[in-house]
Amino acid sequence: LASIEIAMADIPEGQTKTFEWRGKPVFVKHRTKAEIAREKAVPVADLRHPQHDDERVQKDEWSVVIGVCTHLGCVPIANSGDFGGYYCPCHGSHYDGSGRIRKGPAPLNLHVPAYAFKDNTIVIGS
Ligand code: FES
Repeated sequence: LASIEIAMADIPEGQTKTFEWRGKPVFVKHRTKAEIAREKAVPVADLRHPQHDDERVQKDEWSVVIGVCTHLGCVPIANSGDFGGYYCPCHGSHYDGSGRIRKGPAPLNLHVPAYAFKDNTIVIGS
């Protein structure tokens, strides 16, 4: 499918769900206030791939990323790792709750796909 619609009500606060879009996993994370505060507070200058959380989300409560590790393409595990986000078991890359690489060999943050909020859905690929 060129685009998929995800009902926001299906993802409770604090949870991440995985969807398939154009043959790739997409992680949609419904972040808590504490998670949002933690990601906003990360010093960008310390990051391997420096991006503020504001550059990676449209609404603070929702992080949407492609679930393909930027090292060699494995699928990371959601809600895992040392930084409240994702852990790639292939070679040990840890991503935070914004999808930014924080530890391990991956060179770049998880990719953010094109998406839009429409009514009560998130449309991936729009
Ligand atoms: Fe993810 Fe190597 S493919 S750490």
